[in-house]
Amino acid sequence: MSAESKMVAVCPGSYDPVTNGHIDIISRTARIFDHVIVGVVNQPLRKQKTLFTAEERQGFIERAVDLPNVEVKTFSTLLVEFAKENGATTIVKGLRAISDFEYEFEMNQLNRKLDPDIESAYVMASAEYSFLSSTGVKELATFGGNVSDLVPDEVAKALSERIAR
Ligand code: PNS
Repeated sequence: MSAESKMVAVCPGSYDPVTNGHIDIISRTARIFDHVIVGVVNQPLRKQKTLFTAEERQGFIERAVDLPNVEVKTFSTLLVEFAKENGATTIVKGLRAISDFEYEFEMNQLNRKLDPDIESAYVMASAEYSFLSSTGVKELATFGGNVSDLVPDEVAKALSERIAR
């Protein structure tokens, strides 16, 4: 590979909704790679219906991350196919507590089996976001908890509106 080749990474996830922890991982990944594509899964995973549509989830990220080398797309194919179609060499994911490791290890093996040319790399969550998850945020919001420090303002507002319905 020539030194001029652009290094492109994919940061995939359900992002239902995006949290400040995700934004931290995306922003730090954007400091390492020339270009970052945030891939928003547009397919119900694990039979779970999402709270927000793929377009809503995409919009939240686009408006929260204002970096010239980051773009946000939805996808409903295999992750490795999405990475390849977009010229990405690397899948980057955030790792929080040790509890993430087992799941990510399995996904890593699956994705490598599907396409050995796509590498996976992991960025450790910043300490303040180690226990932050979209699921936790939705649960807090459901019971009237304050999520304003955990997600972008627009997401906090959308969560209270959506959950109140
Ligand atoms: O835990 P998340 O954020 O919902 O992760 C979603 C994703 C796609 C990153 C994870 O499930 C994964 O790595 N899947 C690999 C297998 C695959 O390609 N599934 C299809 C997704 S449309």
